Amino acid sequence: MKLIDSFGRVHTSVRISVTDRCNIRCFYCMPEFGAEFAPRESLLSFEEITRLTRLLVNRLGIRDVRITGGEPLVRRDLPVLIQQIAAIDGLKDLSLTTNGILLAEQAQSLRDAGLRRLNISLDTLDADVFKEIARRDGLEKTIEGIDAAIDAGFDSIKLNSLAIAGVTEAEIARLVRFAMDRSITIRFIEFMPLDADREWSRGNVLSGDRILEILKSNFGDIAPIIRSDPSAPAEDFLVGGGTVGIIRSVTQPFCGACNRIRVTADGSIRNCLFANEETPLRDLMRAGADEEELIRQIQASVANKKASHGMDSDSFDPPERPMYSIGG
Ligand code: GTP
Ligand code: 5AD
Ligand code: SF4
Repeated sequence: MKLIDSFGRVHTSVRISVTDRCNIRCFYCMPEFGAEFAPRESLLSFEEITRLTRLLVNRLGIRDVRITGGEPLVRRDLPVLIQQIAAIDGLKDLSLTTNGILLAEQAQSLRDAGLRRLNISLDTLDADVFKEIARRDGLEKTIEGIDAAIDAGFDSIKLNSLAIAGVTEAEIARLVRFAMDRSITIRFIEFMPLDADREWSRGNVLSGDRILEILKSNFGDIAPIIRSDPSAPAEDFLVGGGTVGIIRSVTQPFCGACNRIRVTADGSIRNCLFANEETPLRDLMRAGADEEELIRQIQASVANKKASHGMDSDSFDPPERPMYSIGG
């Protein structure tokens, strides 16, 4: 069985949030104070996450799993979960997205547990700008974490850099050099309307076009690299000696090729980052629902997926849950 929506998109990738908590408070995601976290008992247990993932892989054609948060490394004993998921037969890829602050302590045990790929957020190399964005300290720890991850020998490590107009223009060239020095790819991401404070406006979006201009003025000619995976959000370019990606979720949405569903930390299926409805599975699982019932629910959720996030429409409403609560 495959998860195919009404537009013919086949879903082979799941992003599973393991916590909505985080150790920093980036303004594009969380409120500075008073974030409302799900109570612990409402989070899926490792056994529940593994059971659901096994069902998705064994019965519904999911091949790729990405662990997200909140900040996934604040979930206690995460390597235990990684080991359980890595053991699922038929899984092709297991990856994780993190802010990197706890990686110096955990990179090696995550690698040893079977995690293959890591994407690490790094928006700035300036400690003051870091604090302005994250409203907490953490730049040094993040850089230590990136270097520890490189030493741990993952199949791939990429940096994710949220680009914010009026804040990060001056960071772009030096972030690219930082990534090149370490022979890793960096991707610049357009700011989407998923911040808890609802301060997003188009004026805050540093567009992919503007980022490309900044790259050209610093590094000369840049050449597009043909996408090998049509559903990958990033367009890659050869810049200097390295690879730089642009994720233009706002100015050039890639929804037409979307292949992903999400599981929130409290156990609901979301068919889109911007979905206004979700399908709660946790209580069904706890009430003893069998596989066929869960499959019906997941298929119904995918069948209801919209064509795109619709950010350009006058009637666009951001989702009720901000990014930290949906899962990055
Ligand atoms: P790779 O498999 O390494 O290419 O990972 P990825 O880029 O799919 O995952 P990552 O967690 O690194 O996501 C990078 C950014 O892409 C996120 O921070 C989002 O801004 C954006 N993104 C990820 N998934 C989606 C999605 O489903 N829709 C949209 N619009 N943006 C997404
Ligand atoms: N728009 C785009 N990307 C976001 N992220 C968090 N909030 C937003 C947003 N409002 C990204 C982070 C990180 C991933 C977990 O989600 O930069 O790479
Ligand atoms: Fe897929 Fe929704 Fe993201 Fe578009 S916004 S790429 S449809 S998850």
